Amino acid sequence: MKLGDFVQSGDWKGEKHVPVIGAPDSVKAGEAFKVDLCVGKEIAHPNTAAHYIKWIKLLFVPNGGKFAIELANLSFDVHGDTMDAEHPGPAFADPFGSVRVKLSAGGTLVAQSYCNIHGLWESSKTITVN
Ligand SMILES: [Fe+2]
Repeated sequence: MKLGDFVQSGDWKGEKHVPVIGAPDSVKAGEAFKVDLCVGKEIAHPNTAAHYIKWIKLLFVPNGGKFAIELANLSFDVHGDTMDAEHPGPAFADPFGSVRVKLSAGGTLVAQSYCNIHGLWESSKTITVN
């Protein structure tokens, strides 16, 4: 058994759990650029005390590389936390965030997300470095 056997994927336009990577197709070596990460861009994922996205990670696999490099870990810890479990609120953290990244070589950005009910999901985007 491998954990990867339990990581699901798909088209984020039709499957609300798939993390969306917003990043340029091409960047300049050593120049910082923004990567937007979210779950539910096209179809909103539930965000309640019972059902929510707990985290999104961003990793990078350089072309020809052997290992994935973790770039960021966005944790969404507030899901209607309250002293009253019958009436959750008043704060919820939406699964959206941005990170700045610098690359010196091209490769593949990989986003993984975790839903507390529906498990692990991932998507990827190749990026060229000039
Ligand atoms: Fe879910």
